[in-house]
Amino acid sequence: MPSYLKLSYKPQKNDIVAIYKVEPSRELGLKEVAQKIAAESSIGTWTKLTTLREDIFNKLSAKVFYVSEKRKIIKISYPIELFEPGNIPQLLSSIAGNVFSMKAVKNLRLEDIQFSEKYIADFPGPNFGIEGVRKVLGIYNRPIIGSIIKPKVGLTPKEQAILAYEVFKNGVDLVKDDENLTSLSFDKFESRVKNVLRLKKRAEKETGSPKLYAFNITSPVDVMLQRAKFVRKNGGRCVMIDIISCGWSAVQYLRNQNLGLILHGHRAGHSAFTRDKRHGISMLVVAKLARLAGIDQLHTGTVVGKMEGGENEVLKIDELLKEDWEGIDKLRENWGKLKAVMPIASGGLHPALVPQLLKILGKDLIINFGGGIHGHPQGSQAGARAVQQAVEAVIKKIPLNNFAREHKELREALDYWRK
Ligand code: 3PG
Ligand code: 3PG
Ligand code: MG
Repeated sequence: MPSYLKLSYKPQKNDIVAIYKVEPSRELGLKEVAQKIAAESSIGTWTKLTTLREDIFNKLSAKVFYVSEKRKIIKISYPIELFEPGNIPQLLSSIAGNVFSMKAVKNLRLEDIQFSEKYIADFPGPNFGIEGVRKVLGIYNRPIIGSIIKPKVGLTPKEQAILAYEVFKNGVDLVKDDENLTSLSFDKFESRVKNVLRLKKRAEKETGSPKLYAFNITSPVDVMLQRAKFVRKNGGRCVMIDIISCGWSAVQYLRNQNLGLILHGHRAGHSAFTRDKRHGISMLVVAKLARLAGIDQLHTGTVVGKMEGGENEVLKIDELLKEDWEGIDKLRENWGKLKAVMPIASGGLHPALVPQLLKILGKDLIINFGGGIHGHPQGSQAGARAVQQAVEAVIKKIPLNNFAREHKELREALDYWRK
């Protein structure tokens, strides 16, 4: 079989590089397995082929150009001709497809993909991104405060709208549906949109500040599009899509409609393949794909909240979304005209965690509170005020305990959750 191992190879300007962590099976050597991965993910298979001409091999074969026995890391470079421009599912079927099933690997993790400028240039990226979202809300000097309505599902459209209104009035900028709320018998999508947008308008008038509501349109694509259009027709500006359960094809489809809506990306389910540090696909890769596809704001982790995800990992993902990130091993990567994605910290947050959260992740961030607002002992309005007070304290560089002396909602939140 021709060799896919070319340790002297320097990736060409347009190549795409995949970085994998590999645990070979049985007695197989890392270099041997690396070649099998390169073959299966590019043009080859398990045996020598009479159909594989030399010219095809030279032009299109992947090349293993880096092998670290110590770190169990391999890097494979792929000629750009292997990939259809602007097609994320095709990319994944190649470099994140059959390779995970091979008996030759005990464990395999796609840690990073480094895209070339040419590959990136065929994607739209976010329509709004950080700048656009900040402009819509008119907020430039602090993180954006979000709230997930809780209970996740169970309220009627009217109750949901009133709750959104109450937290909008008390310092929240963005309210969102939860990941499993779509259109249910007791909370129909269209009715929720109408009720919520009516009270959102009132809250905007009374507070003098623009607000956003992210309606979860997760559903089969034909229904998803109808719902997105319904939101737009009724004056909404933002929709949420569960990017993993809907899939990349749906995300790309939605973005490519150019509806002028902010796309809020929820990542429920990602841990099925991102959580195991030895096998699967990293959240960093998921975040890169979301940026290519055109998600404007994406859940990436909190470090301090209820979901798994360490400081280094979440920080790396957020940095990647915000600028021209160089990847885990400092290769080239230039995101060109693609806008920066707003990271969202969500899951198990409450006011006492705000200083640490912002210290770690910075202020270009949406911070989202479900239980941390609607679980406040004095109710949701007090919960919203407590979060707003915590953010104000951090921006003014005042320790929370000091600020809480004059702000009773924050005091109550600290007493309640710091136990
Ligand atoms: C598949 O898509 O199932 C594989 O490409 C099978 O190919 P093989 O028979 O050469 O392993
Ligand atoms: C989310 O969808 O991000 C979660 O619903 C967050 O909810 P929590 O703040 O109650 O953990
Ligand atoms: Mg949720």
